[in-house]
Amino acid sequence: MNIRTVATTPFSDQKPGTSGLRKSVTTFQQPHYLENFVQSIFDSLKDCAGQTIVLGGDGRYYNREAIQVIMKMAAANGIGRILVGKSGIMSTPAASAIIRQYKAYGGIILSASHNPGGPEGDFGIKYNITSGGPAPEKVTEAIFAHSQTIDSYKILEAGDINLDKLTVTRLGEMSVEVIDPVEPYARLMESLFDFDSIRKLIKNDFKLCVDSMHAVTGPYAKDIFEKRLGASGAVLNGEPLPDFGGGHPDPNLVYAHDLVEIMFGDNAPDFGAASDGDGDRNMILGNNFFVTPSDSLAVLTANATLVPGYQDGLAGVARSMPTSEAVDRVADKLNIACYETPTGWKFFGNLLDADKATLCGEESFGTGSNHVREKDGLWAVLFWLNILAARGESVEAIVKDHWKTYGRNYYSRHDYEEVDQERATELMERLRSRLGTMTGEQFGGYEVKYADDFSYSDPVDGSVSKNQGIRIGFTDGSRIVFRLSGTGTKGATLRLYVESYEPDASKHELDTQLALKPLIDLAQEIAQIKEYTQRDQPTVIT
Ligand code: G1P
Ligand code: ZN
Repeated sequence: MNIRTVATTPFSDQKPGTSGLRKSVTTFQQPHYLENFVQSIFDSLKDCAGQTIVLGGDGRYYNREAIQVIMKMAAANGIGRILVGKSGIMSTPAASAIIRQYKAYGGIILSASHNPGGPEGDFGIKYNITSGGPAPEKVTEAIFAHSQTIDSYKILEAGDINLDKLTVTRLGEMSVEVIDPVEPYARLMESLFDFDSIRKLIKNDFKLCVDSMHAVTGPYAKDIFEKRLGASGAVLNGEPLPDFGGGHPDPNLVYAHDLVEIMFGDNAPDFGAASDGDGDRNMILGNNFFVTPSDSLAVLTANATLVPGYQDGLAGVARSMPTSEAVDRVADKLNIACYETPTGWKFFGNLLDADKATLCGEESFGTGSNHVREKDGLWAVLFWLNILAARGESVEAIVKDHWKTYGRNYYSRHDYEEVDQERATELMERLRSRLGTMTGEQFGGYEVKYADDFSYSDPVDGSVSKNQGIRIGFTDGSRIVFRLSGTGTKGATLRLYVESYEPDASKHELDTQLALKPLIDLAQEIAQIKEYTQRDQPTVIT
C-alpha cells in the first residue's frame, strides 16, 4: 500500500458557513484546496480509524473528481469502510438516512445545495455526524482550526474506483461499497407514509407534477412517485446534470419557472412540488396556488396525526427564527412546545435527538422531522400527498381552512444578492447600534415591542449562539428581521424577512406584497437598504 504524505500550506478561507464549506468550483480546483479541508475533517475526528463513512453528493460538476480524492484520502487515514452512492449520487436527506441505517460513524456530503453548478458555479463539502445531522459548531470550528495549521495531508496512490457499478471492492486496506442511494431512502418513506392511500388518490385521476430541476432528486422522484406510487410522467427535469441544465436549482417561484408555468397555467395539475440541488428543500404548490414554506410547516403540524408515521402526535416543533410564527399558533393549540432556533438545520439536531421536537422547518423551503437529521424535500411532498389523500380536499382549500382556524401570517423574504460586503456589514452594524434605544419607539402606526440581535441558548447542551439576526418586533405581532447570508459565495447577501398577523378571515385574500407593504417600507426606512446596497429592488422575493 503506497500512502503519500503531501506537504501543504493553509488556506485562510476554509471556515464552514451555514451549511459546510461552500466556494466556487475554481476555488476548490486550486491544488491542495479540497485535500486540506478533507484532511482537516479526518484530523478533527476522534477514533475514526476502522470506522464506516458515507459519501456522496448532488451530482454537480466536480462531484466525481472530489469523490475519488476523498476515498483515497480516507483509505490513507485509516477509515475502515466507505459507502458511496452509485455514480457518486446521494441526496442530502438520503445520506442522513443511510448514516443512520448503517450506523456509520459519519458522512461527507458534496453539495452546494441550491447554488448554481458547472465549471463556473459552486461546489461544497460538509461533514455529518453519527446521528446523521450536520456537524455542530464545535465540530466545524475544530475542522477550521485544523485547516489553519495544516502542513501535510495523506493520500493513497491508487487507481480510480468505478462508481457506476454496485460493487464491493478495496482501496488499500479500506473496503469500498458502491450502494444504491435510492432504495434505503424509499423504504424509509414507505415506513412513514400511507403509500396505499396515495396510490389510490393518484389512480382517481389526481394529477401531480414534481420538478427535480435536473438535480439529485430525479432518480428518487422517479422511483417513488412514478414507480412506487404509479404517477407516470409526474417527474419534470428528472435527469441529474452536472450544471443542472444551466438552471439555478432553488425551488422557489422565481427559479422553478418550468413548474410555476404549469401550475399557474390552464388545466394545472392538482399538486406541484420542486426540490433543490441536493434534495433537502421543497416548494409546495396547488392548482394556481403557492404555499409558503412557513405555512407548509404549520399545515403539516396541524395535520400530522393523519400520517401513519406521526399518528401518535408530535413531541414538539421547531422553526428557525426568521420563519413565520404560523406554526407557533398550531403548537399553542396542540399544547406542544415550539422552539425558535438560529438559521441553519444544524440547530435542530439536539432538539430532535432529545425528542423535544418531531417536526422542524425553515422559511427557506426546508421542512423535516426526526426520521433523519437533515431537512427533506421529498418527505415534505409525501407528507402533503398523504394529507391530501386523507382529507380529499385541494391544497388551496386546506391552507385557507388553516388560516380560518389559526389566522394568517402574511410573510415574505426579500434577498439582496451579491451586494458589497463592507456596506452590508455597515448596514447591520448601524442597526445593531440602534437596538438598545428602539423599544417603545413609534414608526407611523407601529410601536416597537422589542429589538435585539437574536441569541440562542440550546436547551439540550447549553451552548449559546450569538448574533443570529436582528429582530424588530411590533406590538401588533408583526416583525421585521435582518440577516446576512452564511451560504453565499459572492459579496454579501442581505435577507429581509417581513411578517404580519391577520386573524380576520375576511382579510385573508390580499396579495402578500401588498399586505406587507407598510412593513417593507418601514424596513427600508429603518435600515436604509437602498442607500447601503445601491439597489432599488431585491434580487429575489419569496
Ligand atoms: C440559507 C437559508 C437557511 C438554510 C441554509 C442551508 O442560509 O436561509 O435557512 O438553512 O441556506 O440550506 P443563509 O444563506 O441564509 O445563511
Ligand atoms: Zn439544499
